[in-house]
Amino acid sequence: MQVNTLILGAGAAGLMCAAHAGPNTLVIDHAKKPGEKIRISGGGRCNFTNMYCTPQNFLCENPHFAKSALARYTQWDFIELVAKHGIAYHEKTLGQLFCDGKSTQIIDMLLAEMAQAEAALWLQTNIISVAHDGTDFVVVLEHKSKRKTVLARNLVLATGGKSIPKMGATGLAYDIAAQFGHSLTETRPALVPFTFSDNPFTPMSGTAADTRATAGQTSFDEATLFTHRGLSGPAMLQISSYWREGEAISLNLDPQNTLYEALRTQRQTQGRKQLTTELARHLPTKLIEHLTIPLALSGNLADQSDTRLSEIVSALQNWHLKPTATEGYRTAEVTLGGISTAEISSKSMESSLQKGLYMIGECVDVTGWLGGFNFQWAWSSGVAAARDI
Ligand code: FDA
Repeated sequence: MQVNTLILGAGAAGLMCAAHAGPNTLVIDHAKKPGEKIRISGGGRCNFTNMYCTPQNFLCENPHFAKSALARYTQWDFIELVAKHGIAYHEKTLGQLFCDGKSTQIIDMLLAEMAQAEAALWLQTNIISVAHDGTDFVVVLEHKSKRKTVLARNLVLATGGKSIPKMGATGLAYDIAAQFGHSLTETRPALVPFTFSDNPFTPMSGTAADTRATAGQTSFDEATLFTHRGLSGPAMLQISSYWREGEAISLNLDPQNTLYEALRTQRQTQGRKQLTTELARHLPTKLIEHLTIPLALSGNLADQSDTRLSEIVSALQNWHLKPTATEGYRTAEVTLGGISTAEISSKSMESSLQKGLYMIGECVDVTGWLGGFNFQWAWSSGVAAARDI
């Protein structure tokens, strides 16, 4: 069987690419259904893009790489597509757009676009081998228990990263890219909760606080969630992409820097109030209970000098914690790193080593922040490849 374009992976990037790649396109996937990660994303409502998406929201060895694709198919292009299909959506926070209804609406939209482009989809199809005969890619597949050889002028790698192996994630794109001489950057689980051995946060599991979380030079002002395993919530997922084993993370529990003045003011009028009672007006009670002994929080407000209040606030603003590890690929939303961008055209996503070979989506060393950026990368890189094909 001969096709113009064979796309490996019917996830976000592969489906988007198929919808734009022109006639005689075949998409294959080993899963039973296409777009499974879209289905489970955003708590079932798919945070499909971010209104404030810029190249600064991505990690990549080459910080300029994502610029071209993101500029040529923007969040506004995708929003227009969503609107064209009559899918209702809303901004949850920080420019993050979610479906009002189910995330399957996004999958149905992509399948409808693909059908209109007359692209074919084979599910439950395994990839046995990939080669190039000098003219075409020769891909041996197993479809419905039968071996089939597909000859393709263009081959698009869109099998994603390693996160959530239970959902069928594999490192296949890395292996095929390496087979054609591509270099790989280190891969790590990202957008993932932190774990602590002898987790000290178990008694306050379920408590959330507004924080500024810092790892290395990077900070995020978002909520932190204390869990029975360790630390989670958007702030923790965000900085997990910047954290390395053995390092401490820093939590600022007073990111607006208003607590010191608030405590001094209260001391003037409510001097007999317990310090911990007053702190619990600003921070979750369970968190204050957790910090009472380590910070020696005792006495009433009138007992606290300016110096002491300043010490307490400083400790709350600079809480250093050393995670043991992360929850790993089991729960990571994405894989950091991947196929190096050094040998990929930023304009077309085509390999500079093998004509007709394209790499898109999460398998490439481009990783977005939490908040719809990873899907935007899947849409933008998918369209970039399709337009070149
Ligand atoms: P994706 O993983 O979507 O697709 C790859 C496809 O390849 C899959 O269909 C898989 O079955 C197939 N495949 C893999 N190996 C294969 C093999 N060996 N043979 C055949 N087929 C193979 N992002 C965001 O922007 N907003 C959000 O709300 C969320 N939410 C979210 C929640 C959860 C729980 C997760 C795990 C992830 C998110 N993400 C997200 C991240 C987002 O899902 C991710 O970045 C994109 O799905 C990546 O798109 P790709 O098409 O590159 O890979």
